[in-house]
Amino acid sequence: MSRSYEIPADVVCADDYERVARERLSPQALAYYAGGAADELTVDWNRRAFGRIALKPRVLGTAAGGGTGLSLFGQEFAHPILIAPTAHHRFADPDGEIATVVGAGGAKAGMVVSTEADLTLEEIAGAARTPLWFQLYIQHDRGFTLELVRRAERAGYGALVVTVDAPVFGMRNREQRAGYQPPKLSEHANLKGLHTTYFAHAELGESIMFNGFLDVTAQWADIAWLRANTTLPILLKGILSPEDAVLALEHGADGIIVSNHGGRVLDTSPASLDALPGVVRVVEGRVPVLLDGGIRRGTDVLKALALGARAVLVGRPCLYALAVAGPAGVAHLLHVLRCEFEIAMVLTGCAKLEEIGPHMLWDDGLREGQYSVSR
Ligand SMILES: Cc1cc2nc3c(=O)[nH]c(=O)nc-3n(C[C@H](O)[C@H](O)[C@H](O)COP(=O)(O)O)c2cc1C
Repeated sequence: MSRSYEIPADVVCADDYERVARERLSPQALAYYAGGAADELTVDWNRRAFGRIALKPRVLGTAAGGGTGLSLFGQEFAHPILIAPTAHHRFADPDGEIATVVGAGGAKAGMVVSTEADLTLEEIAGAARTPLWFQLYIQHDRGFTLELVRRAERAGYGALVVTVDAPVFGMRNREQRAGYQPPKLSEHANLKGLHTTYFAHAELGESIMFNGFLDVTAQWADIAWLRANTTLPILLKGILSPEDAVLALEHGADGIIVSNHGGRVLDTSPASLDALPGVVRVVEGRVPVLLDGGIRRGTDVLKALALGARAVLVGRPCLYALAVAGPAGVAHLLHVLRCEFEIAMVLTGCAKLEEIGPHMLWDDGLREGQYSVSR
């Protein structure tokens, strides 16, 4: 991969980064970054869901004196656009997650660091000038899991994002076709020393799932256990159904991230945006609800907030920006998204995040009844 931190002149939005990154990444890395599960219908739906909703322009008001700042779990954010946790940033840049976090700092964006980052959580925190949260995969070894939590606490992470929608890999056919081989768990920088005893693997004629593997995967009781063992706020990432949102609150979650893992786990699960109103409705404002999946434009950010999200996270575009122009690319991408978001706010007559709501959506652009939310 040729390394250049120059942003090509014709790269002016998130999709432009994807176009250029496709030329720069190896076929295996591209399959890993871009792909989803099976036929990738959910990957597609995540984006299409935003295109189905129209915004309601408002004229001749004034948004003077407004802003995009918000406070989440006691931390201050300049705007509601965060970097979603994604693994293996070294496919995109030799400096891996350090390059990403430097870019995040430039754009004053919060970042969620993956358990499966290519660098340790301490190395990444050491380079950070922006709020960081740690994304936790509950490991089969709960003692090791707790040690990860302690490390995140010591390194100054402001919240735990516990990803609950991926007890197993989805059927990643695109990765299989490209010959992508995921590294072993114990080879991940944060998981050195972890002994994994159970794998999703089956010989012909054997069951892949019902062979003891599920005996050690995380369950609701593990969330209550985590809650009792850390003072950090806990967000559950990967909630789509209102039923699970209710259980999340019952087990002590401080926040919910509506997400389908970028369509990488269960193909034909709904678009995150389509699942958002149902979750917002049952949560009734008790904890912040965030969303990821398919955010590529500032108008997408506005629509997610209008439907009840407090903030959004962006996954693949950050990887593509990293591949194209390292930290400068990440900073530029996030800056562009923020600019687009602010422009959309002004054109829909809105000065502050608290003023954003479903009234900013054009009713004719909505499927009947689906998007009526109360906040
Ligand atoms: C290459 C890649 C790696 C990912 N790795 C993780 C991970 O380690 N942990 C996690 O919780 N989510 C992971 N995700 C899911 C993202 O956090 C996020 O849910 C998703 O990318 C959002 O959709 P978007 O890519 O359309 O923005 C990954 C996504 C991608 C594309």
